[in-house]
Amino acid sequence: MSTITDLLATMDYGPAPESDAPAQAWLDSQGRRFGHVIGGRRIKGGSFFDSLNPATGQVLAQVAQGTPALVEQAVKAAEAALPGWQGLGGHGRARHLYALARGLQKHARLFAVLETLDNGKPIRETRDIDIPLAVRHFYHHAGWAQLLASEFPEQQALGVVGQIVPWNFPLLMLAWKVAPALACGNTVVFKPAEQTPLSALLFAEVCSEAGLPPGVFNLVNGDGAVGEALVRHERIAKIAFTGSTDVGRAIRRATAGSGKKLSLELGGKSPYLVFADADLDAAVEGLVDSIFFNQGQVCCAGSRLLVHEGTAPALLARLKARMARIRVGSPLDKSTDMGALVSAEQLARVTGFVERARAEGADVFQASATALPAGGCFFAPTLVAHVDTASEIVQHEVFGPVLTVQTFRTPAEAVDLANNTRYGLAASLWSESIGLALDVAPRIKAGVVWVNSANQFDAACGFGGYRESGFGREGGREGLVEYLKPAVPSPRGGSRAARKTTVHGTVVAGTAAGIDRTPKLYIGGKQVRPDGGYSREVWAGKRLLGVVPEGNRKDIRNAVEAARAAAGWERSTAHGRAQVLYYLAENLDAQQARLVDLLAATAGTAGSTAARAEVQAAVNCLFSAAAWADKHDGAVHQPPLRGITLALHEAMGTVALVAPDEAPLLGLLQLAAPALAMGNRVVAVPSSTLPLVAAELYALLDTSDLPGGALNLVTGPHDELADVLAAHNDVDAFWWPSASAAQAARVQALSAGNLKRTWVAEPVTGMPTVLQQAVQVKNVWVPYGV
Ligand code: NAI
Repeated sequence: MSTITDLLATMDYGPAPESDAPAQAWLDSQGRRFGHVIGGRRIKGGSFFDSLNPATGQVLAQVAQGTPALVEQAVKAAEAALPGWQGLGGHGRARHLYALARGLQKHARLFAVLETLDNGKPIRETRDIDIPLAVRHFYHHAGWAQLLASEFPEQQALGVVGQIVPWNFPLLMLAWKVAPALACGNTVVFKPAEQTPLSALLFAEVCSEAGLPPGVFNLVNGDGAVGEALVRHERIAKIAFTGSTDVGRAIRRATAGSGKKLSLELGGKSPYLVFADADLDAAVEGLVDSIFFNQGQVCCAGSRLLVHEGTAPALLARLKARMARIRVGSPLDKSTDMGALVSAEQLARVTGFVERARAEGADVFQASATALPAGGCFFAPTLVAHVDTASEIVQHEVFGPVLTVQTFRTPAEAVDLANNTRYGLAASLWSESIGLALDVAPRIKAGVVWVNSANQFDAACGFGGYRESGFGREGGREGLVEYLKPAVPSPRGGSRAARKTTVHGTVVAGTAAGIDRTPKLYIGGKQVRPDGGYSREVWAGKRLLGVVPEGNRKDIRNAVEAARAAAGWERSTAHGRAQVLYYLAENLDAQQARLVDLLAATAGTAGSTAARAEVQAAVNCLFSAAAWADKHDGAVHQPPLRGITLALHEAMGTVALVAPDEAPLLGLLQLAAPALAMGNRVVAVPSSTLPLVAAELYALLDTSDLPGGALNLVTGPHDELADVLAAHNDVDAFWWPSASAAQAARVQALSAGNLKRTWVAEPVTGMPTVLQQAVQVKNVWVPYGV
């Protein structure tokens, strides 16, 4: 008599193919030839490329290659549609977004099959994940359109936005981008990935079926050259890009100084941490989902397994057994776990990574329940052991079903390993101890952290990265903000030359007349002499006010180092930070007379009345920043999954800023104080017209309990110091709202190295704007009610 085990061994899944007949019929009905969709009309193409089924090699359709002229035509159509679209108001647009959600839902199975054919991903995933999430995105954003006027009363749409997506989630990425853009009243020129254009073309059809006004959604097909034409187009107000970090960096450089808003959702090398007390079976299931979902072609894939040393043997044994049961096969089969990679190029790329790791001495384990089908771009689930932190396969995004494994002994070591990457998109951590999990989560530098779960997404919860994983969020309130701008015109425009300063590049030992001030720089809580030994005189008309040091590259580096060392400020409580800012305000208030005297002494001011108003506004600003310190909180979301999402506001890290020349005291504090309130450490270059004001702050800072390094002040030539700060890899955000277009172009191009967030050449419309720049949202997903 056979045992149950024997019986189970003989049982297997029968074939359960999903019919592709409706999708093939749709392709036939289009003649298997697609152009572009501009102004609601189908535009024929000149030259064509093939869209292939990567599981079989079948040519599904031919798709037209766009051109810069077509991009121009699409932008014009989007511009023409803007007034009507905005004129509909929030409610009118909500009705359209709702109709689009319904339209997607109506054709859900057709979309799922088409996506599977074009991309190679299993039908189970397109049917149960990609399409339902895309639908939810449109529903959710129909709600935002409805609420826009009441929730964002002082914001307005940007205009025409350009959106470029990759091939790994073609329709879902479209939904992530198009839904918020339209909800806010923008119109769109969209470029799908050249490997997977079909679901976007079907979406265009749903748009016309659902009665979306022509020109609101325009689609130009083609490769990176078309993306580039979109990026460089002068009348596009924003670029939203998802794709590789290299292209993201190129886009940062190409848009530098253009005034285009930019959001980049780039690569990742996300850690998957398993602690000694984790539920191992659950952790293995989560891991399979994390790295083998969509054949590992997921920007937030948990591609680095970090497991406690003592737990590793048991976990790896279970993982290997589980990998041996993963079914790799026809993506249209409903019992297939893993389908094909997107293309032969991607297969070669993934294979190359694994072979190079093997050649370096790594131990490569591959298994699957089925033999890999012949003829398609299939790759077995792969585990790579005996790697170290510097290995190529540990540092680079493979974008395939390839998991590396490393061990740790302590939580601190786990955090170090997790953060040992230039990326910062996501992390999963597994522990049965809520104390441990919620202690580790804030220490991981990533935009999303899943506790005892993996790869959870929802339209209400923002998604996006830290560090070189890009900036901006998609989903949730924070995602919406990416498609809005302040409705009020720039309050700038006052004469920047109002305070005339004469610069003599000579070393001056003292001053001839007037107030004798020879301050130093303020770095790490100490007054230090400038590295170069140069100072410059500050004159008000014929009166020499004092001599200020000219900081240089070395001083900036020291200041950044001091700021990074002051990590305790970020960990301090919001209450504590508020106390320090109130205390600073109190001390500033006590020095009013001295500051008014100094401000009033400069040429071009309206005398002491204006100076007094500025000092009072500065005190007020410190009070406001202190007040916000414990109020600019995040949110808790309740997505339709068994969990809650804590949308936490985390400090950016080290914020570098260049203060405006107008209002030297207030201009500096209105940027620095909110940054400090949110726990950032700051390196500031004070006003160039009256840098002596900054020096007046040193003594106040010394007596206000601000820890050394939290605020560093380096006076000196703005352009030179800004360049060093913008290029510095240890600076996380760079602010220069008063920069000219030329200055903005230079510093944004320099910022591309580590993809730091930049805020340049834009109005400071009030403290909420600064607070928004001062934080990044980390979404922590926690099981709840399970
Ligand atoms: P890619 O970044 O080149 O392509 C993504 C999109 O950008 C496509 O629509 C493409 O046509 C467009 N594009 C390419 N060059 C452009 C340019 N200069 N300006 C504007 N748009 C441009 O990614 P690719 O080549 O498809 O994949 C290469 C690697 O990138 C993958 O192996 C993976 O490691 C990574 N990748 C990461 C993604 C993510 O979501 N993090 C998505 C896709 C790829």
